[in-house]
Amino acid sequence: MLRALYPGSFDPITNGHLDVLARAARLFEEVIVAVAHNDSKQALFTTQERVKLLEESTSHLKNVKVTSFEGLLVDFARSQGAKAVIRGLRAVSDFEFEFQMALMNRSLEPNLEALFLMPCEEYSYISSRMVKEVARLGGTVSRFVPQCVEAALHKRFGARTQDTERPQT
Ligand code: PNS
Repeated sequence: MLRALYPGSFDPITNGHLDVLARAARLFEEVIVAVAHNDSKQALFTTQERVKLLEESTSHLKNVKVTSFEGLLVDFARSQGAKAVIRGLRAVSDFEFEFQMALMNRSLEPNLEALFLMPCEEYSYISSRMVKEVARLGGTVSRFVPQCVEAALHKRFGARTQDTERPQT
C-alpha cells in the first residue's frame, strides 16, 4: 500500500491543514496524520485532545488515519511503512525550516521522501498560532478552523476568561 505520513503539532488543526490533507489523500492510498507528542513545546491542547479534534475533522476522508507519536519522525515513518512525509508550504517563509527538516530527515532515512503541498490560496495566511490568538482575544475563527475546533477554542478560552474574572476570596 502506498502510504504517506502527515506529521505536525496540529495545535489545533486548521482548514489549511485539512486542505493539505485532502490533497494528500487523493495522491496516496492511505495517509496517516500523526500528532507529534513534544513535552518541551507548550501546547494549548493535549495530544489526546488534538487527536480527537483531528478524528472529528477528518471523518469524511476514508483513507485517512489519525494517531500520535513520540520520538524521531523517521523512526515512526519506518514503523508505519510510510514512503513519504507530507508537509504544507504556505509561503517562502515556511521554506527554510522545512528545507532543513527535510534534509535532516533524509540524512537519517534516505528512503523517506519529503513531499510539499500548497494549500488553497485562501488558507495561505492561516496558522494555528494566529487562530489561537484571535480566539483568545475574542475574535471569530469560524472561517479558519473546522466547527469542532471552533467549539473547543471557545470552551477553552471561555473557561479561562471566567476563571480569571472570578473574584478572589
Ligand atoms: O506542526 P509543526 O510543529 O511544524 O511540526 C513539526 C514536526 C512535529 C513535524 C517536527 O518537529 C518533528 O518531526 N518532530 C519529531 C522529532 C524529530 O524527528 N525531529 C528531527 C527532525 S527535524
